[in-house]
Amino acid sequence: MSLNEIRCLPSCGSTNTYAKEHIEEFGPVAAVYTTSQTSGRGRLGRLWTNAAGQALYYTAVLKVPMVQPETLPLFASLAVREQLRLRYGVECAIKWPNDLLLGGKKVVGILCEAVNYGTGGEGRAYLCGIGINLAQPQSYFDAAGLPYGTSLALQGANVDLEADPSWLAEGLTDFGFDRALYTFGPEGFAPYRDAYTAACVNLGRRVAFTQPGGAGEGTAAGIDGEGRLIVRTDAGEEHVFTGEVSVSGIYGHV
Ligand code: BTN
Repeated sequence: MSLNEIRCLPSCGSTNTYAKEHIEEFGPVAAVYTTSQTSGRGRLGRLWTNAAGQALYYTAVLKVPMVQPETLPLFASLAVREQLRLRYGVECAIKWPNDLLLGGKKVVGILCEAVNYGTGGEGRAYLCGIGINLAQPQSYFDAAGLPYGTSLALQGANVDLEADPSWLAEGLTDFGFDRALYTFGPEGFAPYRDAYTAACVNLGRRVAFTQPGGAGEGTAAGIDGEGRLIVRTDAGEEHVFTGEVSVSGIYGHV
């Protein structure tokens, strides 16, 4: 039994959108989840397709102060990675900034958003939307045109579609976020940087990136203290932002 409110919905448009619309109702740490999401949103304005009953769509609602909210996507990827390790014994790789990969394919996507609330907009909340591919068959990814997508079941995990969504939602909310926020909130990314770096699959590999300042390519050399990807290019060193960027080089383009 979780100490935090975890709202389970039979279906919804998007758990991030639902959390925004109901933001006033939630306490400092809460969550919403479903296994059927009809208008899922991904990063960079993309859609997140629905696999009704075969995936987990989850949003953590965080109304706690954070010194480095821009690194929340990286912190969240570590939190999900740990819950999947505990549940299934799998070791996901992280593709910067926050995709989780198994067998070189994407099994988890994360969309973090900030929202103001309160009568004068004085409250600040962070939403951490997480889509976990639990048990879609290969035919689902083929039909959806997602050659680089995979599910935990396809990668050999023993998925229980009855028990796992609530187990994962509770583990993520109470341990992945609530407990870990005692460190991440006041200290930021620094205590997590080594663990993140060890799991990050980009490092030492060629990457191409686009960001507001322009496009480039080079070799990923590290993660800086702000959670940015350090890329060595012919022109020098670039620190690529967590925001509106895309990175390729692991497989095609995500
Ligand atoms: C990505 O593009 O990789 C991020 C995908 C994030 C999808 C999750 S599913 C739960 C939450 N609700 C949404 O509409 N999006 C996020």
